[in-house]
Amino acid sequence: MEEKVDLGLRRFIKQLGYAAGGTAFLAGMAPWLTSCTPEKIEELGREKARLALIGTGGRGQYHIHNLRAIPHAELVALCDIYPKNLSDAHALCPSARTCSDYREVLDAKDIDGVIIATPLGSHARITLDALASGKHVFCEKAMALHMEECKAVYDAYKAQDKALYYCMQRMYDPKYIKAMKMIHDGAIGELVGMRCHWFRNADWRREVPSPELERLINWRLYKENSGGLMTELGCHQLEVCNWALGLTPVEISGMGDIVYWKDGREVYDSVAVNYRYSSGVKIVYESLISNKFNGMEEQILGKDGTMDLARGVYYLEEDNLLSGMRRLYDQVKDGIFASIPTAGPSWRPEVKGQYVPHPVIEGPTSINSGESMVSSDNDGSLDILSAFCQSCITGEKAENVVEEAYSSTLLCLLGNQACEEGRTLAFPDEYKIPYMKF
Ligand SMILES: NC(=O)c1ccc[n+]([C@@H]2O[C@H](COP(=O)([O-])OP(=O)(O)OC[C@H]3O[C@@H](n4cnc5c(N)ncnc54)[C@H](O)[C@@H]3O)[C@@H](O)[C@H]2O)c1
Repeated sequence: MEEKVDLGLRRFIKQLGYAAGGTAFLAGMAPWLTSCTPEKIEELGREKARLALIGTGGRGQYHIHNLRAIPHAELVALCDIYPKNLSDAHALCPSARTCSDYREVLDAKDIDGVIIATPLGSHARITLDALASGKHVFCEKAMALHMEECKAVYDAYKAQDKALYYCMQRMYDPKYIKAMKMIHDGAIGELVGMRCHWFRNADWRREVPSPELERLINWRLYKENSGGLMTELGCHQLEVCNWALGLTPVEISGMGDIVYWKDGREVYDSVAVNYRYSSGVKIVYESLISNKFNGMEEQILGKDGTMDLARGVYYLEEDNLLSGMRRLYDQVKDGIFASIPTAGPSWRPEVKGQYVPHPVIEGPTSINSGESMVSSDNDGSLDILSAFCQSCITGEKAENVVEEAYSSTLLCLLGNQACEEGRTLAFPDEYKIPYMKF
Protein backbone atom coordinates (compact mmCIF):
# COMPACT_ATOMS: atom_id res chain seq x y z
CA MET A 1 0.00 0.00 0.00
CA GLU A 2 1.29 3.45 -0.86
CA GLU A 3 2.35 5.41 2.23
CA LYS A 4 0.76 8.77 2.88
CA VAL A 5 3.58 9.85 5.14
CA ASP A 6 7.33 9.54 4.77
CA LEU A 7 8.37 6.98 7.37
CA GLY A 8 12.05 6.61 6.50
CA LEU A 9 13.64 8.27 9.52
CA ARG A 10 11.00 6.88 11.86
CA ARG A 11 11.87 3.38 10.71
CA PHE A 12 15.54 4.04 11.30
CA ILE A 13 14.88 5.30 14.80
CA LYS A 14 12.88 2.17 15.50
CA GLN A 15 15.61 -0.03 14.04
CA LEU A 16 18.04 1.52 16.47
CA GLY A 17 15.85 -0.13 19.03
CA TYR A 18 15.31 2.93 21.13
CA ALA A 19 11.86 4.08 20.12
CA ALA A 20 10.04 1.22 21.77
CA GLY A 21 9.04 2.13 25.29
CA GLY A 22 9.50 5.82 24.79
CA THR A 23 11.95 8.30 23.39
CA ALA A 24 14.15 8.82 26.43
CA PHE A 25 17.35 8.27 24.51
CA LEU A 26 16.32 10.78 21.86
CA ALA A 27 15.36 13.36 24.43
CA GLY A 28 18.91 13.17 25.75
CA MET A 29 21.00 13.22 22.60
CA ALA A 30 18.82 14.33 19.67
CA PRO A 31 15.59 15.81 21.05
CA TRP A 32 14.63 17.22 17.67
CA LEU A 33 13.85 13.68 16.52
CA THR A 34 11.03 13.36 19.02
CA SER A 35 8.90 15.47 16.66
CA CYS A 36 9.25 12.79 13.94
CA THR A 37 5.91 11.19 14.77
CA PRO A 38 4.10 10.60 11.47
CA GLU A 39 1.33 8.73 13.31
CA LYS A 40 0.00 12.12 14.39
CA ILE A 41 -0.67 13.07 10.79
CA GLU A 42 -2.87 10.03 10.36
CA GLU A 43 -4.68 10.91 13.58
CA LEU A 44 -5.34 14.47 12.45
CA GLY A 45 -6.61 13.29 9.08
CA ARG A 46 -4.86 16.17 7.30
CA GLU A 47 -2.55 14.77 4.76
CA LYS A 48 -0.49 17.48 3.10
CA ALA A 49 1.68 20.37 4.15
CA ARG A 50 1.01 23.24 1.72
CA LEU A 51 4.31 24.91 1.01
CA ALA A 52 5.97 27.82 -0.77
CA LEU A 53 9.62 27.85 -1.80
CA ILE A 54 11.36 31.23 -1.57
CA GLY A 55 14.65 31.13 -3.48
CA THR A 56 14.60 28.71 -6.37
CA GLY A 57 18.33 28.48 -7.19
CA GLY A 58 20.59 25.47 -6.75
CA ARG A 59 19.57 24.44 -3.26
CA GLY A 60 15.93 25.42 -3.78
CA GLN A 61 15.70 23.14 -6.81
CA TYR A 62 17.28 20.35 -4.81
CA HIS A 63 14.52 20.81 -2.22
CA ILE A 64 11.94 20.47 -5.03
CA HIS A 65 13.59 17.17 -5.93
CA ASN A 66 13.29 16.01 -2.30
CA LEU A 67 9.71 17.28 -1.90
CA ARG A 68 8.65 14.97 -4.71
CA ALA A 69 9.68 12.04 -2.53
CA ILE A 70 7.74 13.30 0.51
CA PRO A 71 4.15 12.06 0.24
CA HIS A 72 2.80 14.55 2.80
CA ALA A 73 4.16 17.62 0.94
CA GLU A 74 2.48 19.81 -1.66
CA LEU A 75 4.44 22.64 -3.26
CA VAL A 76 1.88 25.38 -3.93
CA ALA A 77 4.03 28.40 -4.81
CA LEU A 78 7.50 29.36 -5.99
CA CYS A 79 9.11 32.73 -5.44
CA ASP A 80 12.33 34.23 -6.79
CA ILE A 81 13.61 37.61 -7.91
CA TYR A 82 15.72 36.07 -10.70
CA PRO A 83 13.41 35.04 -13.58
CA LYS A 84 15.69 32.34 -14.98
CA ASN A 85 15.87 30.38 -11.71
CA LEU A 86 12.15 30.84 -11.20
CA SER A 87 11.29 29.43 -14.62
CA ASP A 88 13.78 26.53 -14.21
CA ALA A 89 12.10 25.64 -10.93
CA HIS A 90 8.65 26.05 -12.44
CA ALA A 91 9.58 23.52 -15.10
CA LEU A 92 10.29 21.06 -12.26
CA CYS A 93 6.96 21.81 -10.59
CA PRO A 94 4.49 23.19 -13.16
CA SER A 95 1.49 22.95 -10.83
CA ALA A 96 2.90 25.63 -8.49
CA ARG A 97 2.11 29.32 -9.06
CA THR A 98 4.99 31.78 -9.25
CA CYS A 99 5.81 35.25 -7.94
CA SER A 100 8.79 37.54 -7.38
CA ASP A 101 7.84 39.20 -4.07
CA TYR A 102 8.04 36.88 -1.06
CA ARG A 103 5.39 38.90 0.78
CA GLU A 104 2.85 37.53 -1.66
CA VAL A 105 3.37 33.99 -0.37
CA LEU A 106 3.42 35.19 3.24
CA ASP A 107 0.00 36.80 2.74
CA ALA A 108 -1.47 33.73 1.02
CA LYS A 109 -4.03 31.81 3.08
CA ASP A 110 -3.45 28.49 1.32
CA ILE A 111 0.16 28.15 2.48
CA ASP A 112 1.14 26.55 5.81
CA GLY A 113 4.89 26.86 5.63
CA VAL A 114 7.72 28.40 3.64
CA ILE A 115 11.10 27.01 2.66
CA ILE A 116 13.73 29.75 2.46
CA ALA A 117 16.69 29.00 0.19
CA THR A 118 17.90 32.52 -0.56
CA PRO A 119 21.42 33.91 0.05
CA LEU A 120 22.44 34.20 3.71
CA GLY A 121 22.05 38.00 3.84
CA SER A 122 18.26 37.69 3.51
CA HIS A 123 17.63 34.71 5.86
CA ALA A 124 16.86 36.76 8.97
CA ARG A 125 14.56 39.29 7.30
CA ILE A 126 12.48 36.70 5.44
CA THR A 127 12.33 34.39 8.49
CA LEU A 128 11.16 37.19 10.78
CA ASP A 129 8.53 38.30 8.26
CA ALA A 130 7.36 34.71 7.72
CA LEU A 131 7.00 33.98 11.45
CA ALA A 132 5.18 37.29 11.92
CA SER A 133 2.72 36.31 9.20
CA GLY A 134 1.99 33.01 10.95
CA LYS A 135 3.86 30.61 8.67
CA HIS A 136 5.95 27.66 9.73
CA VAL A 137 9.49 28.18 8.45
CA PHE A 138 12.24 25.95 7.11
CA CYS A 139 15.30 28.07 6.40
CA GLU A 140 18.60 27.11 4.92
CA LYS A 141 21.66 27.39 7.11
CA ALA A 142 23.33 29.51 8.33
CA MET A 143 20.86 31.29 10.57
CA ALA A 144 21.84 34.86 9.70
CA LEU A 145 24.73 37.00 8.56
CA HIS A 146 25.06 39.02 11.77
CA MET A 147 24.98 38.02 15.43
CA GLU A 148 22.30 40.55 16.34
CA GLU A 149 20.06 39.14 13.61
CA CYS A 150 20.53 35.62 15.01
CA LYS A 151 19.43 36.86 18.42
CA ALA A 152 16.42 38.69 16.95
CA VAL A 153 15.28 35.53 15.14
CA TYR A 154 15.86 33.37 18.21
CA ASP A 155 13.81 35.78 20.39
CA ALA A 156 11.01 35.94 17.80
CA TYR A 157 10.92 32.16 17.56
CA LYS A 158 10.70 31.76 21.32
CA ALA A 159 7.85 34.28 21.52
CA GLN A 160 5.46 32.45 19.18
CA ASP A 161 4.18 28.96 18.41
CA LYS A 162 5.21 28.24 14.81
CA ALA A 163 7.82 25.64 13.90
CA LEU A 164 11.22 26.84 12.71
CA TYR A 165 13.81 24.53 11.20
CA TYR A 166 17.30 25.20 9.89
CA CYS A 167 18.63 22.86 7.29
CA MET A 168 21.39 21.33 9.39
CA GLN A 169 20.93 17.98 7.72
CA ARG A 170 23.55 16.12 9.73
CA MET A 171 21.15 16.30 12.68
CA TYR A 172 18.80 13.99 10.72
CA ASP A 173 21.41 11.79 9.02
CA PRO A 174 21.19 8.21 10.39
CA LYS A 175 24.94 7.67 10.43
CA TYR A 176 25.47 10.84 12.48
CA ILE A 177 22.63 9.95 14.86
CA LYS A 178 24.02 6.46 15.44
CA ALA A 179 27.58 7.77 15.79
CA MET A 180 26.49 10.38 18.34
CA LYS A 181 24.67 7.72 20.31
CA MET A 182 27.89 5.69 20.36
CA ILE A 183 29.99 8.69 21.39
CA HIS A 184 27.57 9.53 24.20
CA ASP A 185 27.62 5.90 25.31
CA GLY A 186 31.43 6.04 25.62
CA ALA A 187 32.49 4.01 22.56
CA ILE A 188 35.56 6.20 21.97
CA GLY A 189 36.16 7.12 25.61
CA GLU A 190 36.48 10.61 27.02
CA LEU A 191 36.50 13.25 24.29
CA VAL A 192 39.85 14.99 24.03
CA GLY A 193 39.81 16.88 20.73
CA MET A 194 38.02 17.67 17.46
CA ARG A 195 39.49 18.07 13.99
CA CYS A 196 37.28 19.24 11.18
CA HIS A 197 38.14 20.41 7.72
CA TRP A 198 36.52 21.01 4.39
CA PHE A 199 38.77 21.30 1.36
CA ARG A 200 37.72 21.82 -2.23
CA ASN A 201 39.57 22.85 -5.34
CA ALA A 202 37.15 25.11 -7.18
CA ASP A 203 36.65 28.85 -7.26
CA TRP A 204 33.04 28.90 -6.03
CA ARG A 205 32.14 31.13 -8.99
CA ARG A 206 29.06 30.77 -11.14
CA GLU A 207 28.73 31.96 -14.69
CA VAL A 208 27.06 35.36 -14.94
CA PRO A 209 25.06 36.19 -18.11
CA SER A 210 25.50 39.94 -17.64
CA PRO A 211 27.67 41.99 -15.24
CA GLU A 212 24.85 43.60 -13.20
CA LEU A 213 23.89 40.09 -12.01
CA GLU A 214 27.35 39.38 -10.53
CA ARG A 215 26.40 40.05 -6.89
CA LEU A 216 23.06 38.27 -7.16
CA ILE A 217 24.48 35.11 -8.70
CA ASN A 218 27.89 35.07 -7.00
CA TRP A 219 26.53 36.23 -3.63
CA ARG A 220 28.77 33.70 -1.81
CA LEU A 221 31.83 35.80 -2.64
CA TYR A 222 30.64 39.11 -1.16
CA LYS A 223 30.32 40.11 2.47
CA GLU A 224 26.95 41.84 2.05
CA ASN A 225 25.40 38.37 1.67
CA SER A 226 27.92 35.79 2.80
CA GLY A 227 30.18 34.77 5.66
CA GLY A 228 32.29 32.73 3.22
CA LEU A 229 33.71 29.35 4.16
CA MET A 230 32.69 29.60 7.81
CA THR A 231 28.96 30.09 7.22
CA GLU A 232 28.76 28.04 4.02
CA LEU A 233 30.74 25.00 5.19
CA GLY A 234 31.95 25.35 8.77
CA CYS A 235 28.42 25.86 10.09
CA HIS A 236 27.50 22.17 9.65
CA GLN A 237 30.75 20.91 11.11
CA LEU A 238 30.84 23.11 14.19
CA GLU A 239 27.32 21.99 15.05
CA VAL A 240 28.50 18.40 14.99
CA CYS A 241 31.30 19.18 17.47
CA ASN A 242 28.92 20.87 19.93
CA TRP A 243 26.49 17.98 19.53
CA ALA A 244 29.23 15.48 20.41
CA LEU A 245 30.43 17.33 23.48
CA GLY A 246 27.16 18.95 24.61
CA LEU A 247 29.00 22.22 25.15
CA THR A 248 29.66 25.52 23.41
CA PRO A 249 33.26 26.79 23.14
CA VAL A 250 34.38 29.65 25.35
CA GLU A 251 37.17 31.07 23.17
CA ILE A 252 37.75 31.59 19.48
CA SER A 253 40.89 32.53 17.55
CA GLY A 254 41.71 32.32 13.87
CA MET A 255 43.35 33.44 10.68
CA GLY A 256 41.70 34.02 7.34
CA ASP A 257 43.12 35.06 3.97
CA ILE A 258 42.51 35.22 0.28
CA VAL A 259 45.42 33.04 -0.76
CA TYR A 260 44.64 31.93 -4.27
CA TRP A 261 41.37 33.19 -5.73
CA LYS A 262 42.34 36.87 -5.98
CA ASP A 263 39.51 37.66 -8.35
CA GLY A 264 37.72 40.51 -6.62
CA ARG A 265 35.97 38.39 -4.03
CA GLU A 266 35.67 39.71 -0.49
CA VAL A 267 35.44 36.50 1.55
CA TYR A 268 38.42 34.36 2.58
CA ASP A 269 39.37 31.35 0.46
CA SER A 270 41.46 29.94 3.34
CA VAL A 271 40.63 29.86 7.05
CA ALA A 272 42.18 28.19 10.09
CA VAL A 273 40.13 28.74 13.22
CA ASN A 274 40.48 27.26 16.70
CA TYR A 275 37.71 26.91 19.25
CA ARG A 276 38.43 26.09 22.88
CA TYR A 277 35.89 24.53 25.24
CA SER A 278 36.15 25.24 28.96
CA SER A 279 37.64 21.76 29.54
CA GLY A 280 40.53 22.55 27.19
CA VAL A 281 39.18 20.39 24.37
CA LYS A 282 39.67 22.22 21.09
CA ILE A 283 38.13 22.20 17.65
CA VAL A 284 40.85 22.69 15.07
CA TYR A 285 38.96 23.88 12.01
CA GLU A 286 40.39 24.44 8.55
CA SER A 287 38.86 25.12 5.17
CA LEU A 288 40.27 26.15 1.82
CA ILE A 289 39.15 25.91 -1.76
CA SER A 290 42.34 25.61 -3.77
CA ASN A 291 43.40 22.05 -2.80
CA LYS A 292 41.12 19.11 -2.10
CA PHE A 293 43.64 16.47 -1.03
CA ASN A 294 42.15 16.25 2.47
CA GLY A 295 38.48 16.35 1.42
CA MET A 296 35.83 16.85 4.07
CA GLU A 297 36.14 15.27 7.50
CA GLU A 298 34.73 15.61 10.98
CA GLN A 299 36.84 13.73 13.48
CA ILE A 300 35.83 13.45 17.11
CA LEU A 301 38.87 12.29 19.05
CA GLY A 302 38.42 10.23 22.21
CA LYS A 303 40.97 8.68 24.56
CA ASP A 304 39.97 5.22 23.27
CA GLY A 305 39.12 5.92 19.66
CA THR A 306 38.18 8.31 16.87
CA MET A 307 34.79 8.84 15.28
CA ASP A 308 35.05 9.85 11.65
CA LEU A 309 31.52 11.13 11.21
CA ALA A 310 31.54 12.13 7.57
CA ARG A 311 32.72 8.68 6.54
CA GLY A 312 30.51 6.88 9.02
CA VAL A 313 33.37 4.87 10.53
CA TYR A 314 35.24 4.77 13.81
CA TYR A 315 38.71 3.65 14.80
CA LEU A 316 39.84 2.21 18.11
CA GLU A 317 43.18 3.03 19.71
CA GLU A 318 43.53 -0.60 20.81
CA ASP A 319 43.59 -1.74 17.17
CA ASN A 320 46.86 0.10 16.82
CA LEU A 321 48.63 -1.03 19.99
CA LEU A 322 50.35 -4.16 18.74
CA SER A 323 51.61 -2.75 15.51
CA GLY A 324 54.62 -0.82 16.88
CA MET A 325 57.23 -3.52 16.28
CA ARG A 326 55.75 -4.27 12.89
CA ARG A 327 55.85 -0.56 11.97
CA LEU A 328 59.48 -0.26 13.12
CA TYR A 329 60.41 -3.25 10.97
CA ASP A 330 58.53 -1.85 7.93
CA GLN A 331 59.98 1.61 8.28
CA VAL A 332 63.57 0.41 8.61
CA LYS A 333 62.98 -1.80 5.58
CA ASP A 334 61.51 1.15 3.64
CA GLY A 335 64.44 3.36 4.64
CA ILE A 336 62.30 5.90 6.51
CA PHE A 337 64.76 6.02 9.44
CA ALA A 338 68.26 7.25 8.77
CA SER A 339 69.30 5.60 12.03
CA ILE A 340 67.59 3.32 14.52
CA PRO A 341 67.41 4.75 18.02
CA THR A 342 68.09 1.88 20.42
CA ALA A 343 68.32 3.67 23.75
CA GLY A 344 65.80 6.51 23.50
CA PRO A 345 62.65 6.70 25.58
CA SER A 346 60.62 5.46 22.64
CA TRP A 347 61.45 4.02 19.28
CA ARG A 348 57.93 4.45 18.00
CA PRO A 349 57.83 6.51 14.85
CA GLU A 350 55.74 9.68 15.03
CA VAL A 351 53.83 8.95 11.88
CA LYS A 352 50.22 7.97 11.60
CA GLY A 353 49.67 4.28 12.11
CA GLN A 354 47.23 2.03 10.34
CA TYR A 355 43.87 1.85 12.06
CA VAL A 356 41.08 -0.48 11.12
CA PRO A 357 37.85 1.32 10.15
CA HIS A 358 34.70 -0.04 11.83
CA PRO A 359 31.39 0.93 10.23
CA VAL A 360 28.96 2.94 12.34
CA ILE A 361 26.01 1.46 10.45
CA GLU A 362 26.06 -2.02 8.96
CA GLY A 363 25.18 -2.22 5.28
CA PRO A 364 25.46 0.47 2.61
CA THR A 365 26.11 4.02 3.88
CA SER A 366 25.96 7.22 1.84
CA ILE A 367 29.15 9.23 2.05
CA ASN A 368 29.12 12.89 1.04
CA SER A 369 32.28 13.70 -0.90
CA GLY A 370 31.81 17.34 0.12
CA GLU A 371 32.38 18.60 -3.42
CA SER A 372 28.91 19.68 -4.48
CA MET A 373 27.82 23.26 -3.75
CA VAL A 374 24.20 22.17 -3.62
CA SER A 375 23.63 18.71 -2.27
CA SER A 376 24.44 15.12 -1.68
CA ASP A 377 21.72 12.47 -1.64
CA ASN A 378 20.85 10.59 1.56
CA ASP A 379 22.62 13.08 3.79
CA GLY A 380 19.63 13.88 6.01
CA SER A 381 18.35 16.77 3.85
CA LEU A 382 15.25 14.86 2.82
CA ASP A 383 14.61 13.66 6.37
CA ILE A 384 14.78 17.12 7.92
CA LEU A 385 12.55 18.52 5.18
CA SER A 386 10.10 15.69 5.74
CA ALA A 387 10.10 16.42 9.48
CA PHE A 388 9.33 20.07 8.69
CA CYS A 389 6.40 19.03 6.48
CA GLN A 390 5.08 16.98 9.40
CA SER A 391 5.38 20.03 11.64
CA CYS A 392 3.39 22.09 9.14
CA ILE A 393 0.53 19.62 9.62
CA THR A 394 0.81 18.87 13.33
CA GLY A 395 2.17 22.22 14.55
CA GLU A 396 4.90 20.43 16.52
CA LYS A 397 8.16 22.27 16.97
CA ALA A 398 11.40 20.33 16.55
CA GLU A 399 13.11 20.79 19.85
CA ASN A 400 16.53 22.48 19.82
CA VAL A 401 17.01 22.71 16.06
CA VAL A 402 16.94 26.50 16.33
CA GLU A 403 19.24 26.44 19.35
CA GLU A 404 21.78 24.23 17.54
CA ALA A 405 21.66 26.44 14.44
CA TYR A 406 21.96 29.55 16.59
CA SER A 407 25.02 28.18 18.42
CA SER A 408 26.88 27.03 15.33
CA THR A 409 26.07 30.18 13.35
CA LEU A 410 27.36 32.33 16.21
CA LEU A 411 30.58 30.28 16.19
CA CYS A 412 31.00 30.83 12.45
CA LEU A 413 30.47 34.56 12.77
CA LEU A 414 32.82 34.76 15.76
CA GLY A 415 35.37 32.76 13.75
CA ASN A 416 35.23 35.37 10.99
CA GLN A 417 35.45 38.17 13.54
CA ALA A 418 38.51 36.59 15.18
CA CYS A 419 40.17 36.34 11.75
CA GLU A 420 39.36 39.95 10.92
CA GLU A 421 40.46 41.38 14.26
CA GLY A 422 43.46 39.08 14.70
CA ARG A 423 42.72 38.40 18.36
CA THR A 424 41.24 35.74 20.61
CA LEU A 425 37.58 36.37 21.39
CA ALA A 426 35.60 35.18 24.38
CA PHE A 427 32.08 33.98 23.60
CA PRO A 428 30.11 37.20 24.19
CA ASP A 429 27.77 37.20 27.20
CA GLU A 430 25.02 39.07 25.36
CA TYR A 431 24.66 36.21 22.88
CA LYS A 432 24.52 33.38 25.40
CA ILE A 433 21.14 31.62 25.50
CA PRO A 434 19.86 29.28 28.23
CA TYR A 435 20.37 26.23 25.99
CA MET A 436 24.13 26.71 25.85
CA LYS A 437 26.40 25.00 28.36
CA PHE A 438 29.98 26.19 28.55
N1 LIG B 1 22.25 22.72 3.74
C1 LIG B 1 23.16 22.63 2.80
O1 LIG B 1 23.97 21.71 2.75
C2 LIG B 1 23.21 23.67 1.73
C3 LIG B 1 23.78 23.38 0.48
C4 LIG B 1 23.79 24.38 -0.49
C5 LIG B 1 23.27 25.63 -0.20
N2 LIG B 1 22.75 25.87 1.03
C6 LIG B 1 22.20 27.20 1.38
O2 LIG B 1 21.07 27.47 0.56
C7 LIG B 1 20.97 28.86 0.33
C8 LIG B 1 20.90 29.12 -1.17
O3 LIG B 1 22.09 28.66 -1.78
P1 LIG B 1 22.12 28.34 -3.34
O4 LIG B 1 23.40 27.70 -3.64
O5 LIG B 1 20.86 27.66 -3.73
O6 LIG B 1 22.12 29.83 -3.94
P2 LIG B 1 21.56 30.25 -5.36
O7 LIG B 1 22.19 31.54 -5.69
O8 LIG B 1 21.70 29.12 -6.32
O9 LIG B 1 19.99 30.45 -5.10
C9 LIG B 1 19.51 31.50 -4.33
C10 LIG B 1 18.24 32.03 -5.00
O10 LIG B 1 17.62 32.99 -4.16
C11 LIG B 1 17.11 34.01 -5.00
N3 LIG B 1 16.85 35.22 -4.20
C12 LIG B 1 17.75 36.11 -3.71
N4 LIG B 1 17.11 37.05 -2.99
C13 LIG B 1 15.78 36.72 -3.01
C14 LIG B 1 14.61 37.31 -2.46
N5 LIG B 1 14.66 38.42 -1.73
N6 LIG B 1 13.41 36.73 -2.71
C15 LIG B 1 13.32 35.60 -3.45
N7 LIG B 1 14.40 35.01 -4.00
C16 LIG B 1 15.61 35.56 -3.79
C17 LIG B 1 18.17 34.17 -6.05
O11 LIG B 1 17.69 34.85 -7.18
C18 LIG B 1 18.52 32.72 -6.33
O12 LIG B 1 17.69 32.16 -7.33
C19 LIG B 1 22.17 29.49 1.02
O13 LIG B 1 21.82 29.94 2.30
C20 LIG B 1 23.15 28.34 1.14
O14 LIG B 1 24.04 28.47 2.23
C21 LIG B 1 22.70 24.91 1.99
